Amino acid sequence: MKTFELQAKVHAYSYDELPPDYRELVDVAKQMTGASYNPYSRFAVGAALRLEDGTIVRGCNQENAAYPSGLCAERTALFAAGANYPGKAMRAIAIAAFSNGRFTQEPVSPCGGCRQVMVEYEDAQKAPLAVILYGTDGCYVIESSKELMPFCFVAESLAANKDE
Ligand code: THU
Repeated sequence: MKTFELQAKVHAYSYDELPPDYRELVDVAKQMTGASYNPYSRFAVGAALRLEDGTIVRGCNQENAAYPSGLCAERTALFAAGANYPGKAMRAIAIAAFSNGRFTQEPVSPCGGCRQVMVEYEDAQKAPLAVILYGTDGCYVIESSKELMPFCFVAESLAANKDE
């Protein structure tokens, strides 16, 4: 039996220390919490996704009385980019969350479903998609979404298990 550890490389920054293009993305993600439709959770999440040409695609969580029909902020932005800018590489996504009258102290963490979607696009474009998580106590920068999704299931996992 062998045991191995998986590690994720996370850079912790104060908001002021962030590179300016990441700070701008964080600002847009924070702004987008204001457009969140969250009558059920009252948890507002905003996302801002930078494409290779500099475009910022915006997203925020959208809830529904049929709960599973809702969607996270990250995926609204990722799918909007996939639909409106097909083939454009996604460079970085920033995420912020607002609840109980303030932004979260801890950097907000994307759910597994959103990580899976980030990894799909990163894998397809063969270039890293950085993830920037905002909290009032500090920000985390992860240079590749794959760091957040070890043992990820990707297109190759399907191909490897097809018979011819
Ligand atoms: N949510 C997001 O939009 N992104 C996350 O990373 C975590 C959770 C949303 C989904 C739901 O509308 C609300 O936050 C509470 O889970």
